[in-house]
Amino acid sequence: MSSALYGGAAGRRVTVRDIQAAKPGGEKWPMVTAYDAMTARVFDDAGIPVMLVGDSAAMVVYGYDSTLPVTVDDLIPLTAAVVRGSSRALVVADLPFGSYQASPAQALETAARFMKEAGAHAVKLEGGHRVLPQVEALVSAGIPVMGHLGLTPQSVNAFGGYRVQGRGQSGDELMADAKALEHAGAFSLVLECVPTDLADRVTAALSIPTIGIGAGPGTDAQVLVWQDLMGLTERPAKFVKKYFDLHGEMDRAVRAFADEVSSGAFPAKEHSYS
Ligand code: KIV
Repeated sequence: MSSALYGGAAGRRVTVRDIQAAKPGGEKWPMVTAYDAMTARVFDDAGIPVMLVGDSAAMVVYGYDSTLPVTVDDLIPLTAAVVRGSSRALVVADLPFGSYQASPAQALETAARFMKEAGAHAVKLEGGHRVLPQVEALVSAGIPVMGHLGLTPQSVNAFGGYRVQGRGQSGDELMADAKALEHAGAFSLVLECVPTDLADRVTAALSIPTIGIGAGPGTDAQVLVWQDLMGLTERPAKFVKKYFDLHGEMDRAVRAFADEVSSGAFPAKEHSYS
């Protein structure tokens, strides 16, 4: 059996050590978001090694227009479902806005809830220098931490919109934040909406894997929100590639069902009990 992260041997969960070990060999691997057990099962069976229960659930599950309103209580049941629906993938829980910024103690309390109540294997939080004490506290408590730099959606109001980050001099700050997160013990780092050359330089400078989303082809891994890659999202960002037309397929299927109900063609004899 292959020891590759993507599609490698099943039988046990992928660990953060497996993820870090893949970097020197140059394996590029996929991460997707997941928010429920059945979808998680599909991705797990396909060999996806890491699933993120993103705070993007705020939009794609709960219908908010940003990630800000979603709470720990909203995300814990989704995380638990993804853990139950998978047997191989490492499941990373996103710490939502307001659940870790106040202090390392708050971060620890929140992360511990995701580990104890949902069975998450790691957590993700957004930011650089301002969250280093939080990262250190979590890592020293034995909780693997994934960092997230660039367009960190929880700071959308400070950024004044969803725009590319790290151009010009702010690229140096992002590089410094990336190195500081690695030094604080983060096991991997999401880079969202940053110029390709900056993502390449950060990837080369770090010994932990980088996971790109709108960061070009040079990062160690790539992540997409599953509703984006499956074509369910109506107006996806430029960095999204649509691999399926789920919106169109669902529209066709539900209309076919509705038409058959109207005409009386459904249910037929084979769908009925005698
Ligand atoms: O919440 C999320 O889905 C994310 C990914 C887009 C990285 O943070």
